[in-house]
Amino acid sequence: MRVWIVGGTGLLGKFLAAEMRRQGIAHFADGSKQANLLEPQQLLARATEVQPTHIICAAAYTKVDQEDKKR
Ligand SMILES: NC(=O)c1ccc[n+]([C@@H]2O[C@H](COP(=O)([O-])OP(=O)(O)OC[C@H]3O[C@@H](n4cnc5c(N)ncnc54)[C@H](OP(=O)(O)O)[C@@H]3O)[C@@H](O)[C@H]2O)c1
Repeated sequence: MRVWIVGGTGLLGKFLAAEMRRQGIAHFADGSKQANLLEPQQLLARATEVQPTHIICAAAYTKVDQEDKKR
């Protein structure tokens, strides 16, 4: 098993990565710099590099408070 966690630098992603480390599961925990959902070509290149058997998407735009303040 080879798990690719997109959004691996967030709260949920870090928890998942820690649990996989604990269980000895090979995994890659990427933040938006390595795997950006808004950059399909970058995602494809990274997927080719990682060759995951499983993908977990823990990525999300969560800075909604900042958006409210912009209004
Ligand atoms: N926290 C919880 O207790 C919990 C529980 C259940 C479900 N969830 C859900 O899990 C998701 C993530 O929550 P969270 O609390 O872990 O949020 P978070 O701590 O803010 O983490 C967000 C993650 O998404 C990444 N990200 C943001 N924009 C991205 C983009 N355009 N492309 C790729 N990655 C991007 C961030 O990367 P950077 O670090 O590079 O910015 C970071 O890794 C949300 O949908 C939330 O509703 C959370």
